[in-house]
Amino acid sequence: MRILAIETSCDETSIAVVSLTNGVFAIEKNITSSQAKIHAQYGGVVPEVAAREHAAWIIPLLQEVDVAHDGAGIDAVAVTAGPGLVPALRVGVELAKSLAWAWDKPLVAVNHLEGHIYSVWLSEFQAPSGACDRPEGRLKPMFPALCLLVSGGHTELILMRDHGQYELLGMTRDDAAGEAFDKVAKLLGLPYPGGPQISKVALEGDAQAIAFPRPMIDSDNVDFSFAGLKTAVRVYLDSVSPLSKGELRGVAVANVAASFQQAVVDTLVAKTMRAVQQTQPASVILSGGVSANLRLRQALSDAIQSRFSGVSSDGDEAPVKLFVPDLSLTGDNAAMIGVAGLMKAARGEFVDPLSLKADPNLRLA
Ligand code: KG4
Ligand code: ZN
Repeated sequence: MRILAIETSCDETSIAVVSLTNGVFAIEKNITSSQAKIHAQYGGVVPEVAAREHAAWIIPLLQEVDVAHDGAGIDAVAVTAGPGLVPALRVGVELAKSLAWAWDKPLVAVNHLEGHIYSVWLSEFQAPSGACDRPEGRLKPMFPALCLLVSGGHTELILMRDHGQYELLGMTRDDAAGEAFDKVAKLLGLPYPGGPQISKVALEGDAQAIAFPRPMIDSDNVDFSFAGLKTAVRVYLDSVSPLSKGELRGVAVANVAASFQQAVVDTLVAKTMRAVQQTQPASVILSGGVSANLRLRQALSDAIQSRFSGVSSDGDEAPVKLFVPDLSLTGDNAAMIGVAGLMKAARGEFVDPLSLKADPNLRLA
């Protein structure tokens, strides 16, 4: 089965063709046009500007993926229907509806967060010999899977009991983790998007230099809160005298970035491990834009390894496996929407092409 997938929920316009053959996904095309540089001058994404850019790029991208004009060879169309920015979502949704109607193909509405989760089904993770359950050497997540979804708009812990079955365990009560990275980057004079900038600058800094709070780390739940951490960074910067503020451009910026990043990573990892303890999953899935953060990947991997070392039956394999997307698939892209769309299509979960509407608050669970 081959699906044409469209993603326009935020500031990346993306179209992909993804196939599913004998249980194996393949990305045939995945073309993304990023607007990040345009939004950088405003310090964040401006919804109307995003919509205008999507409208300008979507048809050139459709031409570039080069599907037949009558849709021959495509079995279904998938599109991100939410959550996201309504003016941005609408561009993709209206194109998908038009194509599905004109080609007379089934239409699948995909939740953007579900797309991020399914990005790990495209991962090139190499299974240790003998542990492989897929012909080409990839290992797929086993259920129940605990998903830590960290993006610019969401920070959620979701228990996935099976394909398409989600239970929301915890979420942020204010800012998302990516949003905190973006806001702190702004305080430090670093450009949007802030996550990649902070993680780069942090390489030169000392993560123990400043004792920023680990919000809600000891609370008896798996919710998050990052607004107070952002305020703590602002208070710290305000407390630095004007004289030494000049030095913030140098070593101090790296220390603030590294210490802030460590506070976010420690919190995300602690809450995820609490959820692991509560739900005893077979796999952990880390996904969303912030999953590109190498410090977070390493810390979560270390925490899982150390929790399970010595308790497995064969001695050296952790009973819980961590799945992360390839770095090229951590940010918004249509390939992940294609994978989620193929899974929904296989279950016959189609929507009416004439009545689908973008939903900025679409929920997964
Ligand atoms: O999933 P995504 O591309 O878009 C949304 O669905 O929101 O996530 C974007 C977020 C931004 O806040 C960006 O700063 C953050 O992911 N991000 C990172 C890194 N790369 C992107 N945050 C921390 N470290 C990174 N390396
Ligand atoms: Zn996203």
